Amino acid sequence: MKLKLWLSVLLLVTTVFILYQASTMDTGSIPMNNVSMISDENVINTPKYTSPAQRQNMSNCPAIYGKITIVVVGSTKSLEEKYQIAQASLRCYHKSTNYTLRVIDLYKDCRVRTECRDHTQLFFRKHCATAAYLNETDWMLVLDADTAVVNPNHCIEEWI
Ligand SMILES: *[C@@H]1O[C@H](CO)[C@@H](O)[C@H](O)[C@H]1NC(C)=O
Ligand SMILES: *[C@@H]1O[C@H](CO)[C@@H](O)[C@H](O)[C@H]1NC(C)=O
Ligand SMILES: *[C@@H]1O[C@H](CO)[C@@H](O)[C@H](O)[C@H]1NC(C)=O
Ligand SMILES: *[C@@H]1O[C@H](CO)[C@@H](O)[C@H](O)[C@H]1NC(C)=O
Repeated sequence: MKLKLWLSVLLLVTTVFILYQASTMDTGSIPMNNVSMISDENVINTPKYTSPAQRQNMSNCPAIYGKITIVVVGSTKSLEEKYQIAQASLRCYHKSTNYTLRVIDLYKDCRVRTECRDHTQLFFRKHCATAAYLNETDWMLVLDADTAVVNPNHCIEEWI
């Protein structure tokens, strides 16, 4: 955890440095509005990315991008008490797909207790908890506990 903290500080310092460099850079010699700057053939010929067509009639969501995991982080108590309806809608949506739904309890989950024990601040702990499970999936959709599914006739692939 100490190492991670130092890496974050280093990253922050580097970012500030780069921003400083950029802001003090002499732009006089660089044609910022010269279109020829991006006239590289590879850039121009890259096909425009199109997302998959919208799900129709609640049909299957083909796993064209690999494994997708939906993550909700919170305490079991608040998920059951405050966000019951939202969570029920999510479980219902999940049943129509092959995605993995992972509800992570911030204080009971074994992996979170091990890997995130240094994080006492709620939001840092939430980030740490999702990071701890990133290695289990190709894509992860992290939802707040109060987020409900209104129109399930969509695949998450549509937004990748
Ligand atoms: C843009 O850049 C090209 C090549 O570097 C140069 O020949 C051209 O005069 C520039 N055009 C403008 C409008 O600055
Ligand atoms: C969806 O279902 C409706 C009603 O059964 C049908 O008329 C329509 O053709 C279906 N659309 C697709 C894309 O399968
Ligand atoms: C889940 O995956 C299996 C195996 O690939 C497939 O047969 C099934 O139709 C999928 N179900 C949904 C709801 O996408
Ligand atoms: C992901 O990492 C955890 C340790 O944090 C490990 O226990 C688990 O087996 C890993 N999962 C995969 C799929 O590699």
